Amino acid sequence: MNDDGLTAASLATLANKRILLGMTGGIAAYKCAELTRLLTRAGADVRVVMTTAATEFITPLTMQALSGHRVHLDLLDVDAEAGMGHIELARWPDLIVVAPASADFLARMVGGQAGDLLTTLLLASRAPVVLAPAMNQAMWLNPATQDNLLKLRDRGCHIAGPASGSQACGDTGPGRMLEPADIADACAGLFVPGLLNGLHLTITAGPTREAIDPVRFISNHSSGKMGYALATEAVQAGARVTLISGPVNLPVPDRVHCIAVTTAQEMLDASLLSADNSDVFIGVAAVADYRVSDTSDHKIKKTADTLQLNLVRNPDIIGTLAALEKRPLMVGFAAETQHIEQFGREKLQRKNLDLLFANDATATFNSDDICATALWGEHGSQTLGPANKNLVARQMLTLIAERVSAGQPDA
Ligand code: C5P
Repeated sequence: MNDDGLTAASLATLANKRILLGMTGGIAAYKCAELTRLLTRAGADVRVVMTTAATEFITPLTMQALSGHRVHLDLLDVDAEAGMGHIELARWPDLIVVAPASADFLARMVGGQAGDLLTTLLLASRAPVVLAPAMNQAMWLNPATQDNLLKLRDRGCHIAGPASGSQACGDTGPGRMLEPADIADACAGLFVPGLLNGLHLTITAGPTREAIDPVRFISNHSSGKMGYALATEAVQAGARVTLISGPVNLPVPDRVHCIAVTTAQEMLDASLLSADNSDVFIGVAAVADYRVSDTSDHKIKKTADTLQLNLVRNPDIIGTLAALEKRPLMVGFAAETQHIEQFGREKLQRKNLDLLFANDATATFNSDDICATALWGEHGSQTLGPANKNLVARQMLTLIAERVSAGQPDA
């Protein structure tokens, strides 16, 4: 249980999830302010849809401030359709929660109506649905409402609540909307926990660029594909991912927080900041080992026959982080051209890493496939691939999850 009253499992599960909160007209709508705060604090991305009746109980402005996104109100709103249209919005969520779900709304849902934005979204979406009914106890006990609930349950909707007790209208009985933490727990319960649930991973990827002058730089052939594949797969496995990327030609994977950097020093600064609250740090980037000591402010003219550049060592990012007293689980890569396993194991020890993936640099750079040897501890080793980088990424993340468990006090 955390300060918000959510279980640790719920917190871990809700991170990164896309939740559409549909609000209908009922006094319990005020509790949705708290529900939104709980979901967003757990790391979920929340979009709010309100029926006209809901806006009579709590303002869209409040819900916008708490969700951090514009509230969706109308089906036929030209501006809203130009942004995220209703079909796009129906495809967006991992889960739809309707809270409070009024008796009228349940009846309209049973009838398959699509007269407003929320009913339309429910018809058009394939996302699982949680309904948190809230109404007067006599309305709740009415056979019409009970029939509607049975039908909705049969269609696969999850009914959360209602609770029983004193009601805003003065009655006592069933029909009170569940408390926000209980609704959030009910939402979390519908997600299958992933291998990396609740973990924050920081991944460096791609090359770095070290300027010679304003138009030239030193860099390498790293494509960033391996780091981006790891980021994509880690999100799928339930992790929150920060990707610190050098210049690459790849789209930022869905739900990944990407920090674009250019130089090794910038990558180190971003890594130190992110690693501070990370469980795992994976250094996949091909960091330039040297930078030009005296970068020219102006383009160097080709007047001389020879040109000498003075190079100085760049900081070792993964080595710097591994030396920290409070450090995440450290995972490195070793792209070698010979004695791959031997050099890899030396690097694992020298850099004080928990796990290292050694691979053949000539076969890996810019390729869609990889064959790597995982090395850990004194003797641990496992061959991964050759296979597509996404498939190998999944195998790598399984090994990383094992190392995380091995490091837990009760493992
Ligand atoms: O020393 P070498 O570059 O071979 O080690 C490779 C590993 O170290 C990779 O995980 C790479 O991301 C990381 N590295 C680093 N900072 C450097 C050089 C390499 O984090 N300056």
